[in-house]
Amino acid sequence: MARHLITSALPYINGIKHLGNMVGSMLPADVYSRYLRQRGHDVLYICATDEHGTPAELAAKELGLPVAEFCAQAHDAQKAVYDGFALAFDYFGRSSSPENREITQHFARKLNENGFIEERAIRQVYSPTDGRFLPDRYVEGTCPHCGYDKARGDQCENCTRVLDPTDLINPRSAISGSTDLEVRETKHLFLLQSKLENEVREWVARHDKDWPQLASSIAHKWLTEGLHDRAITRDLDWGVPVPADTWPELAAEGKVFYVWFDAPIEYIGATKEWSDQDTENRDWKSWWYDVDNDVRYTEFMAKDNVPFHTVMFPATELGVREPWKKVDYVKAFNWLTYYGGKFSTSQKRGVFTDQALDILPADYWRYFLIANAPESDDSSFTWEHFTATVNKDLADTLGNFVNRVLSFSRKRFGDDVPAGGVPGEAETKLGAEIARLLAEYEEHMETLQFRKAAAALRALWSAGNSYLEEKAPWLEIKTDKDAAALTLRTAMNLIHLYAVVSEPFIPATAKTMRQAFSLADDTAAWVTQEEAKSLTAVPAGTPFTVPPVLFAKLTDEDLETYKERFGGQEG
Ligand code: 2FM
Ligand code: ZN
Repeated sequence: MARHLITSALPYINGIKHLGNMVGSMLPADVYSRYLRQRGHDVLYICATDEHGTPAELAAKELGLPVAEFCAQAHDAQKAVYDGFALAFDYFGRSSSPENREITQHFARKLNENGFIEERAIRQVYSPTDGRFLPDRYVEGTCPHCGYDKARGDQCENCTRVLDPTDLINPRSAISGSTDLEVRETKHLFLLQSKLENEVREWVARHDKDWPQLASSIAHKWLTEGLHDRAITRDLDWGVPVPADTWPELAAEGKVFYVWFDAPIEYIGATKEWSDQDTENRDWKSWWYDVDNDVRYTEFMAKDNVPFHTVMFPATELGVREPWKKVDYVKAFNWLTYYGGKFSTSQKRGVFTDQALDILPADYWRYFLIANAPESDDSSFTWEHFTATVNKDLADTLGNFVNRVLSFSRKRFGDDVPAGGVPGEAETKLGAEIARLLAEYEEHMETLQFRKAAAALRALWSAGNSYLEEKAPWLEIKTDKDAAALTLRTAMNLIHLYAVVSEPFIPATAKTMRQAFSLADDTAAWVTQEEAKSLTAVPAGTPFTVPPVLFAKLTDEDLETYKERFGGQEG
């Protein structure tokens, strides 16, 4: 059985992320990792903050903090939110770590030895007002492709095209706003991607049949436009320094690697950080080096990141001429919009992950976001849709079922799962339906179709409700106590099954549901088809408690409050 290496795109260090970031990378990666672990796979789920580059420097400047200090604080702040969302990373690292520096420099030296790096003099935007070069996001202006007037020097947020600062129309300094900009010559390292183009093309062709359409279509579009040589160093204070043993002159000038060069390498770097914490038991290289098919590597990201992961990082890995693990499956997401408009970190529009947790526990968000993940298309977050989904799926279909069954049973039969009755036709039919839906759920999880998996999970919850309505134990009890006991015991078995299989989506609630039963030996990681059919894992006589309401129903007043606080319209 292959081991599973899972990474989600590294969130930029600047600022707490919004719900769109969460659903486009970390949350589905967490759901998938949890699922695979429950199915008995050996899983390593790695993420980290992406700390270098102009966004970090600009954010630190805004707060008047040294950039290293800013990053340390911002890393902890992001980690706290991810803990709040119950993201079960094996390790959440930092791209500014010594480990990443070492591996990034190693990659650069190897690329150089193999003839894929060249030093070139280039013309860069220089600001006399600021007394410095202005790489990437230090320049803002109008996108030459789509006309968006807040495009940044590295990429247009609107049309996702990668840009060079000198491409921008009406450029201005992001530090001072100065438009008095000139272009000066400076030396930089270039990665000769053009020399690697054919190899990358072949590599993509070999893999893209297995990739989802969104990822492979973006990879192809990128390759059609051609792989150009790219500057991989910058004139910045903060970043992985160019190694002095190989490029003494550039190192003396203080050049650092471009953030997009060292960020994907941090997937490996963070694994080494993890390993360095316990060198006796952890071996980072066994996940990354010379592993071929022993490891299956799945990456999660939003669509703007796809070119970097399907084309550029693979080009780097290929050029190193060492057997580093390359991605097997690229799970890409479209955008989650806020009332049809953009969620935007820079313009503070939408719901941020820390605010979300202030309002409601993580499971509400986890379920809603995955059930509405922007997989085949963009999807829109609205408070109306959110409250309706919470009320219907979580509060009614799941929460109410659990409380109704357990409270009613306690009231009529006491604190143990009731004995009596013999399973009949209704139970056989229910078991068959549960087994079928479980298989469907598993299939969607295996193929990383999250919306469909959520729908199958919801259908499992609904099947319990239908069974309960059909059997109506509150009527059975009047004429046949044993019949009511059978119905309630079967329903309690459903609750336990829900606890096990809902864990990837709603881990905290799943734990509460599971702990309602004092089973002597409750180690079940998953539910087999046989168990799903028979629904007898929780035997009569098992003590149980009634947990507090699992999901609060959101009122019209709540809805109005949220809309007022966050704005209900596209901004
Ligand atoms: O788009 C982003 O948020 C980047 N910080 C993603 C980096 S992914 C990886 F390559 F590090
Ligand atoms: Zn644009």
